[in-house]
Amino acid sequence: MKTITNLYQTNRKIWAIVPAAGSGRRFSKTELKQYQIIQNKTVLAHTIDRLNELPLAGYVLAIGEQDHYAQTLALKNKHLSHFCLGGNERVDSVLNALSYLEQFAQPDDFVFVHDAARPCVTRECLVNLLNTAINLNSNAILAIPVRDTLKRVDQQHNIVKTVNRDQLWQAQTPQISTFSILKTAIETALNDGVMITDEASALEHSNHTVQVVMGRSDNIKITYPDDLELAKLILQSQIMH
Ligand code: CTP
Ligand code: MG
Repeated sequence: MKTITNLYQTNRKIWAIVPAAGSGRRFSKTELKQYQIIQNKTVLAHTIDRLNELPLAGYVLAIGEQDHYAQTLALKNKHLSHFCLGGNERVDSVLNALSYLEQFAQPDDFVFVHDAARPCVTRECLVNLLNTAINLNSNAILAIPVRDTLKRVDQQHNIVKTVNRDQLWQAQTPQISTFSILKTAIETALNDGVMITDEASALEHSNHTVQVVMGRSDNIKITYPDDLELAKLILQSQIMH
């Protein structure tokens, strides 16, 4: 089993932030995707199980105002769980969680941000990401190289051109950074009115380097209803291997 390098020499804690405050519009108008059941467990509980493969100091769930369910769930290492309110956009939810963490985290502690809707991330990928952050002293994200041919199209859906995919990667989560770098970068980006779709985009705006670490194509984000079926198959096959 892959091991985590050097962490205990650094004395830095590892925190996880799980944005789970979205309304999942593309999934359903009535049901929240993170509470769908796979193998007798919610998607959210699967995600928390995976993150707890790391030696976390704690994890913070950013949840919706109307969500009275999250805090009643039997989650792994429940004593490490914290809850805070999410915000309008994903970035607001992440910033709320960082503000909440301020009372516990040191500036140099590691922070993983991982979508509640990505229950299939593997322990090996989590460890690779953490080791990269430690060894290169860098921010890092899981990503995979774009594998299909990419087309730019016009309004009529006619192909304008083929886009060279040589240096294109698809960003996933988790994304890892240190507490103070991430919080400052997000605050700066929001102040500057920059559109932030993931943590890396905030870090890029402040000219921080962000390393991409090879992820896996099965680290899917449940976005549409069919993705739930796919996640069931992936989790099933991961258990068997
Ligand atoms: N998220 C959040 N706060 C928001 C919006 C999103 O915490 N204001 C979370 C979601 O709960 C999800 C993750 O960010 O775990 C990734 O976002 P996405 O897959 O887009 O989820 P939703 O925004 O909920 O779905 P949709 O965009 O289809 O409405
Ligand atoms: Mg969304």
